[in-house]
Amino acid sequence: MTEPDVARRVEKLRDEIRHHEHLYYVLDKPAISDAEFDARMKELKRLEAAHPELVTADSPTQRVGGKPAEGFRKVRHSRPMLSLDNAYSEEELADWNRRVHELAGNLPVEYTAELKLDGLSVALHYQPDEAGGALLSAGVTRGDGQVGEDITTNIRTIRSVPLSIPPEKLQKLRLPREFEVRGECVMPEAAFERLNEEREREGLPPAVNPRNAAAGTLRTLEPSIVANRRLVFYAYFLLAGGDYWPQGQTATLDALTALGFRVNPHRGRVDTVAAMMKFVAEAEKQRATLGYEIDGVVLKVDAHATQQRLGYTGRAPRWAIAYKFTAESAVTRLEDIMITVGRSGKLTPTAMLTPIFVGGVTVSRATLHNADFIERKGLLIGDWVRVERGGDVIPKVVEVVEDADHPRGNRRFSYPSICPECGNAVVREEGEADWRCVNADCPAKLRESLLHFGARGVMNIEGLGEPQCNNCSSAGWCGASPICIG
Ligand code: IVH
Repeated sequence: MTEPDVARRVEKLRDEIRHHEHLYYVLDKPAISDAEFDARMKELKRLEAAHPELVTADSPTQRVGGKPAEGFRKVRHSRPMLSLDNAYSEEELADWNRRVHELAGNLPVEYTAELKLDGLSVALHYQPDEAGGALLSAGVTRGDGQVGEDITTNIRTIRSVPLSIPPEKLQKLRLPREFEVRGECVMPEAAFERLNEEREREGLPPAVNPRNAAAGTLRTLEPSIVANRRLVFYAYFLLAGGDYWPQGQTATLDALTALGFRVNPHRGRVDTVAAMMKFVAEAEKQRATLGYEIDGVVLKVDAHATQQRLGYTGRAPRWAIAYKFTAESAVTRLEDIMITVGRSGKLTPTAMLTPIFVGGVTVSRATLHNADFIERKGLLIGDWVRVERGGDVIPKVVEVVEDADHPRGNRRFSYPSICPECGNAVVREEGEADWRCVNADCPAKLRESLLHFGARGVMNIEGLGEPQCNNCSSAGWCGASPICIG
């Protein structure tokens, strides 16, 4: 081949490889086999090795480059990368919707709904190249929202991130050649499982979840490792001239798709709270089969003009909100185990936890059911435990977590042999899981019976709450009333 022939062949191979990368990594619709793809890549590598002068920064062979010599440089964001306010219920969404309408005045209020991907937000910077297009010049982590870290060498290995954008695509959209794309970097569940199998083989503790694994991967100083971890980048914002671009969120997602970015296909237009809740319900259904983790839905006011009118609080835009799924789990510490006595005299162990925000509330206690449960889970005081809470369900201790960051506790809990409230002996009947206080006059039994009697689902007696019941039982109530079953 003559020199111009080689140059033409190299360009043709690059175009083909980019096209097939786009089909495979962005659209999820491969058109050729892996072997056919690899053959093109191999030929391109061979030609570039023989003609190093033809190598360009955006060649598909250049995704994995050298490691950053001095770690990651700090970079100030063009405009802060903010967080989102959260909503956990339909009422909270309705409140937000009301506020948006109040503040928007006569400007249009329509929303886009997107999935809340459980990954890390990243900013990609593109700058004009010599060919009239734009070249990926930097990839930056969110950091503290003002200043992030330059992780360009790692971002380049993510195949859903275009290394360059051809001039035609920019012209068609009338997008300036210097722009920024923001989005979420996630580790798919399959990649996460593969990583943990690998770690297990190497005798390393497993990564806790895909999000942590993605964070660790992006901070790795070895780009070839990052390339192997199969991270995916989903784009959701476009900034040009220091502001969001073009006129609204739906147009932004369409523009990002046209530029060749991967945009999450699960999105919609919702204009009422009912429609938002419908989108949330669908997302919850899809959640198990997506192949990547999500932790909610993000609602954004569509029109940029309305967004501008609404503005920002210190940490979040007023024009967007994250509706978080409620069934959530979190890891916290089992500080102690406390025994409570129920109305039948049953002794129930309660986990006293380091308070943790889970499923929309702060949880500091969880039921441990009975002695068997503590035994079966092998719980020690001081252990790290996973706590789950779904909707209005009582928090549950699911399992003990044990890894480098979560050492085991050291104190076995011994069940009391006497009732902690009255000091009488407790018994456990043959074949029963529970210990019981059999003292008919136990003040705890009286108090709990009274509380139960007055409760909403029973007699619904207003004014017979915890303080009154406490008083009765400590005063050694008469026992004459029909509700006193002591
Ligand atoms: S919009 C200022 N859209 O959620 C607007 N964020 O809790 C903030 N996230 O830091 C970003 N999916 O890392 C947006 N579709 C989505 C998202 C999303 C996940 C993350 C993002 C952000 C965090 C806020």
